[in-house]
Formats: sequence, C-alpha cells, structure tokens
Amino acid sequence: MVDRDRAVAVPAPTRVLQRPGAIVMVFAHEDDLVEYAARELATLANDVVDARGRFDWTLAGGSTPAVLYRRLAREDLSLPWSRTHVWFGDERCVPPGDPQSNYKMAHDAMLASAPARAAHVHRMHGEDDPAVAAARYEQELRDACGLAPGGFPAFDLTLLGIGEDGHTASLFPGTTAVAVRDRLCVANHVDHLGTWRLTLTTPTLSHSRRVWVFAVGGRKRGILGDVLGGSAKTRVRDAGEIARWPVLGVRPATDVVWWVDEAGAGGLG
Ligand code: 6PG
Repeated sequence: MVDRDRAVAVPAPTRVLQRPGAIVMVFAHEDDLVEYAARELATLANDVVDARGRFDWTLAGGSTPAVLYRRLAREDLSLPWSRTHVWFGDERCVPPGDPQSNYKMAHDAMLASAPARAAHVHRMHGEDDPAVAAARYEQELRDACGLAPGGFPAFDLTLLGIGEDGHTASLFPGTTAVAVRDRLCVANHVDHLGTWRLTLTTPTLSHSRRVWVFAVGGRKRGILGDVLGGSAKTRVRDAGEIARWPVLGVRPATDVVWWVDEAGAGGLG
C-alpha cells in the first residue's frame, strides 16, 4: 500500500468538474497531477488485487504518460506488480526497440525497473504484419482473460491519452477502426500519418471497469475545450461528435476520469 506513515502533502486538484459521464480533475501543475494519480492508481491496484487477486491494466502510449510511469516505477508506491497484467491500448507498427514504440516508452520509463516486474506484460507485436499482430493480440486477450466468443475483456483500469484531433489510442478520426464493434483489436491505417497502427477498439476500451484520460499542457487546451466545454457540460455527445472526436466514444459504465492541468484546462468551467 502507499506509505502513508510518511506524511507527504499530496497536492489536491484545484478544481473538480462534473460532466455527463465524466469527472474532470484539474491540477495546478503536472507534478501535482502525477503524484495524485500515481497514489490513486497504487491504491486501486492493491484494492483490486485484494478483491480478485489480479490487476489488469492497459497503458496509454504517446509522450504524456512517461512521467507518470516513471513515478509508478518507484517502490514507495508498492504496486502489486507480481499480480499485475499490463496491456497496451495501441502500438505503432515498429519494432519494440524503435523510439516510436509505445512499448519502449513504457519499458524504459517503468517496466524495466526491478520493482515493476509485472507478472505479465502483453506487448503488441508492432514488428509483425499488422493484421497478424492484431489477431494475435485478440487471441492473447481471449486466452488471458478467459473470454467467451464475442466477449470483451474488463480491464480494471485503462489509461488513455488524447491527440489534438480528438483521437485516443490509435482510433483516429476518419479511420476505419473507429466504427469497428465486433473486434477486440485491429490494424488501422492512418492515412495522414502514412502508417499502420495497432489499436484496441472502442467497445474493448469501453468495457474497462475504469477509464482515465490524461491531457497535460497548453497544446491540449483546444481539444479539451471541444470535448469537455460548451454543450458537453449538459449532454452526452452524439454520433457525429464521436466520429469527429473518437475519445468520446469510449464510454465505460463508470464516469471517465479526466486528469488535466490548468494549462490544458484553460477556460473549462
Ligand atoms: C499514441 C497514443 C495516442 C496518444 C495521443 C496523445 O500511440 O500516440 O496512444 O493515443 O495518447 O496521441 O499523445 P501525447 O501524449 O504525446 O500528447
């Protein structure tokens, strides 16, 4: 458990905003957000392991989460690594040692450290043929989670980021993967990047017991205003808005928790 004996002031959010289907935790600074989220995640992981013996956790890619992963690797948080299954929300179609690899980012920041030897790290094989790698990941999910045909895994926690175009994982606006409902994981060609990606699908992400979205820095101000501002204060977004901003299609049974800093939250009220 988190070492609560050492009384360390954990900075609280400056604002907590409620939205239909979402809670927005706003922190003054990224460091405060990271410390608070890391402690919340450690407590959650230990509570889940105590309750059901295993913690299934899906990692976000990109650059934002690296600082959180480095914090989570520190042993003072006592994550139950030996009882943890680590999954990936998406992957670039590159080898695991490539600087673009989400696996490499998580490995270097967290998974390589001694305390973080997770029982099972389920890497997406970005080095393989995309369709083959996606099918392999689906089977690995079915086997490890004991899924019945047509079933979806219920990750205890899924971490996501958001791109400035509203994509999450590798569910980019206008790409075929956004509308897929009968697969767990697919290969998705992202035309404007000229590349293939591997990504969990919207229903897979939505079956997570909890979803946390991290968005930090002024460059996220515009998209956060789009997805959490205006009419988002009073209503869940419609199909057209979900197509435009795929992150909004991820709808778990619990409120999505958005972790943002004031630089990104800007005028959100
Ligand atoms: C990826 C991610 C992607 C990421 C967003 C935000 O493979 O790039 O999975 O969905 O979370 O693009 O990226 P940043 O954290 O770098 O802003």
